[in-house]
Amino acid sequence: MEPDNLEPSNPVSPTALVDTFSRPMRDLRISVTDRCNFRCRYCMPKEIFNRDYEFLARDLLLSFEEIGRIVTVFADLGVNKIRITGGEPLLRRNLEDLIGSIKGIEGIEDVTLTTNASLLERKAGSLVAAGLDRVTVSLDSLDNDVFMAMNDVGFSVDDVLAGIDAAAAAGLTPIKINMVVQKGVNDHTIVDMARHFKGSGHIVRYIEYMDVGTTNQWCMDDVVPGKDIVAMISEAFPLEPVDPNYTGEVAARWQYADGTGEIGVITSVTQPFCATCTRARISAEGSLYTCLFASGGTDLRSMLRAGASDEELSDTIRSVWTARDDRYSQLRSSRTAGLRKVEMSYIGG
Ligand code: GTP
Ligand code: 5AD
Ligand code: SF4
Ligand code: SF4
Repeated sequence: MEPDNLEPSNPVSPTALVDTFSRPMRDLRISVTDRCNFRCRYCMPKEIFNRDYEFLARDLLLSFEEIGRIVTVFADLGVNKIRITGGEPLLRRNLEDLIGSIKGIEGIEDVTLTTNASLLERKAGSLVAAGLDRVTVSLDSLDNDVFMAMNDVGFSVDDVLAGIDAAAAAGLTPIKINMVVQKGVNDHTIVDMARHFKGSGHIVRYIEYMDVGTTNQWCMDDVVPGKDIVAMISEAFPLEPVDPNYTGEVAARWQYADGTGEIGVITSVTQPFCATCTRARISAEGSLYTCLFASGGTDLRSMLRAGASDEELSDTIRSVWTARDDRYSQLRSSRTAGLRKVEMSYIGG
């Protein structure tokens, strides 16, 4: 496991908002719903997320107007990149309206969406028209039996591929495809995934299975280290490393030696990237979290609904970020085992 060797990240301007490890706040990930129409075993296992599970009531979710206000304040504090997540964000009705309004906020340069693609074929065109810049699609295997067992609702690979094709046709390229790798579940389909998308212009990102939340029974034995993933693919299709696109990029990039594209490997378990983590997160009910593995957040919704001014919101966000010392993935060990953590479906991926 990595020692506590967190170093300040890239140099930042003296006026930038930085946390206790000099990490600036650059990205905001907004969960727009805690619901999903999939029941991925590693994220929302059916035994827990069943009929009796209490999802957030409608009036507890931030409205689009409230999200817009929050984004305006974050943009003013230096955030220029927004990712819309869930649950499954496309389940939120009229999401295009939110995308359009966020896209119009001064300072926001990149608006992206992470989706399971179940509604993408239908919505790709309207999402582009609203101003969406990019899309990331979750697809854990091209083997239909494996994929259906993982999403646990019988959604087929072909339907996801149709969503990806529609998104590409609508211009949401390059598309990133997230594959969470679980040992003994889908790791035998790693190379097939690479083969399928090699040369397509889309970028497959292999994600080490993480111990997010408390319902997925994660254990270290289920993790396939990123270096093994790279070795497996490289044996079939030689790979060479590529420099990151930007400091703090989550995925390590590898390109095919024959020039047919690239893949990414996200090693938050074996090689954590907390040292350059610039991500703030807003849950569907409007709490601010400074780490994917946090156990608690700061309730911005109550402030909004009590009539707080932009300055008051800004001061609160500023004080939360300035005090931030999260580096869960780097500390992951006996010290973090047993901690209460929020679920991925609640906080967004
Ligand atoms: P772009 O570079 O903007 O395309 O996005 P990204 O690389 O941030 O990718 P994305 O948001 O799709 O993240 C991919 C996956 O990486 C997520 O679904 C998580 O599983 C993991 N991930 C993203 N951010 C974090 C983080 O801050 N901490 C940890 N531990 N994992 C993260
Ligand atoms: N470990 C790694 N990635 C996960 N995701 C959801 N749960 C986990 C986990 N335990 C991924 C999804 C999706 C994104 C939102 O997060 O597959 O691509
Ligand atoms: Fe839904 Fe994504 Fe979680 Fe699967 S990983 S249950 S698609 S939110
Ligand atoms: Fe950032 Fe927390 Fe992930 Fe580390 S574990 S990279 S601090 S979100």
